[in-house]
Amino acid sequence: MVNVLVVGSGGREHALGWKLAQSPKVDKVYFAPGNGGTQNNVNISSDDIESLAEFAKENDCVTVVGPEVPLSNGIVDEFVKKGLRVFGPTRDAAQLESSKIWAKNFMKRNGILTARFEVFDDSTKAIEYAKSVDYPLVVKADGLAAGKGVIVCDNSSEAVDAINKMLVQKNFGAAGLRIILEERIDGVEASFIALSDGNTAYSMATSQDHKRIYDDDKGPNTGGMGTYSPTPVIDDSTANEIQKNVIEKTIASMKKEGIVFKGFLYAGIMLKDGKPYVLEFNARMGDPECQPIMMRMDSDLFEYIQACIDGTLSSLPRMSWKKHSAVCVILASKGYPESYPRDEQILGLDDVTPNSQVFHSGTRKEDGKILTSGGRVLGVTAVGETLEAAIANAYLRVGKINWPSKYYRTDIGKKGLAWRK
Ligand SMILES: Nc1ncnc2c1ncn2[C@@H]1O[C@H](COP(=O)(O)OP(=O)(O)O)[C@@H](O)[C@H]1O
Ligand SMILES: [Mg+2]
Repeated sequence: MVNVLVVGSGGREHALGWKLAQSPKVDKVYFAPGNGGTQNNVNISSDDIESLAEFAKENDCVTVVGPEVPLSNGIVDEFVKKGLRVFGPTRDAAQLESSKIWAKNFMKRNGILTARFEVFDDSTKAIEYAKSVDYPLVVKADGLAAGKGVIVCDNSSEAVDAINKMLVQKNFGAAGLRIILEERIDGVEASFIALSDGNTAYSMATSQDHKRIYDDDKGPNTGGMGTYSPTPVIDDSTANEIQKNVIEKTIASMKKEGIVFKGFLYAGIMLKDGKPYVLEFNARMGDPECQPIMMRMDSDLFEYIQACIDGTLSSLPRMSWKKHSAVCVILASKGYPESYPRDEQILGLDDVTPNSQVFHSGTRKEDGKILTSGGRVLGVTAVGETLEAAIANAYLRVGKINWPSKYYRTDIGKKGLAWRK
């Protein structure tokens, strides 16, 4: 029996730890730093690589890294150097996420379908280009920007504004000193996540995020307001195509370029005319995709993580998934993704309803009370025999939980229902 250290503090980490704790091979699951809903919290920031390594060594832990920032800072490289067992991509492998320009060029040279694009660091040239194309553009900062570095434009004047924000006003700091102007693809978006040992990649269950803050996909983008799994948007033949032409091709091309990609590989997909365009890669699990996916996973996640670390994934069968649907509704604090109140007490967490699970993100515990501490606060997740039933179960639990600034979308999963008709 070994212990697990989950690095991070979001709903994704809570869900990963919840699933890993169910493994008969795992003794204790620690979270660093964790949140108000996780047990065995260790007071070390997810950026303090040295202290995390020390803790993992002293407590005989296999470490699972949730967020992108420590990965792109090379947490895995450091752990491996110290002989510690860790699941996640190295700094070089995490470039697939940490530099959008690197990822776009990688896709281009390896023939992975993605929107056409140009790279700029000069605002005059970028503006000239934006005015010269006759299709709508998306303007993207190169570096990590916590989900805020992409501006989807309707016309060239919006694109010029976005270019100025990044290259002239430098609102995105170093992350926005180089930018991508890419063609806007209008289609249906879905998430496709796999795990890999660097040679073999097995897909996780499909899912669809709801990125906008308001119902009917209105308002600004957020880190994600809800998800459901599986999604009918990715049917079996599309899933096979993405698995082969995106996931396996990426892992093989990385290997060919001398980079072993171990970890979760997340492809943000836009389906248009039946073709899957890669919008971006993430080098980690999605949040909130992780929550419903973990509730549907039948296999022992820990076994798969161990096999990825050892490079023996192909010796295991493909992962198995429960037939039921799962839905995660994010409860946020009003004002998110801009400013929002904190330190409000959350009530009703003990009012448990069947088939549901509450994963915490922006919460903390103080004097036995659970207080809000972030924009996205809870991921209320439920399963049901059908998508309709899962939605009903999730919203039943949502109704039991309250705090003054509670806000949530009321239409999570509806896109999946509409798709079937
Ligand atoms: N080429 C594109 N066409 C249409 N929409 C896009 C395109 N690229 C990104 N988007 C939209 O912007 C969102 C954020 O872009 P993404 O590349 O995923 O960056 P990040 O998640 O780092 O903010 C996507 O989820 C999608 O809704
Ligand atoms: Mg994205």
